[in-house]
Amino acid sequence: MALYSDKVMDHFLKPRNLGVIENADGIGEVGNARCGDIMKMYLKIDDDIITDVKFETFGCASAIASSSMATELIKGQRVEDAMKLTNKAVAEALDGLPAYKMHCSVLAEEAIQAALEDYKNKSQGNAEN
Ligand code: FES
Repeated sequence: MALYSDKVMDHFLKPRNLGVIENADGIGEVGNARCGDIMKMYLKIDDDIITDVKFETFGCASAIASSSMATELIKGQRVEDAMKLTNKAVAEALDGLPAYKMHCSVLAEEAIQAALEDYKNKSQGNAEN
């Protein structure tokens, strides 16, 4: 059996939503200290709906495929629903990851949560002004 599923290879070779959003409403950056990989997520949010999402990942094939799939999963979702995205759901959507590569999908979950937290903090700040 191949180490990586066709979906992992597809998202690694043709990542969706790769790039940067200028003036993003939420930005999250996380890293894994053990492997040194870094993932950054940018969100555009209108009326609590994620209208656009882009990512930059300096990391392994599984991390790139996980970020790409995660952006596809949350695009168009409500903020509260995107908060519930788990690394397991990302890995399942990719038709699985090797066990020792599951931590790569954790980066995607954490990057999205960090970006959503950033959005919440910013919008609370705006409400107080
Ligand atoms: Fe570091 Fe995959 S090996 S995220």
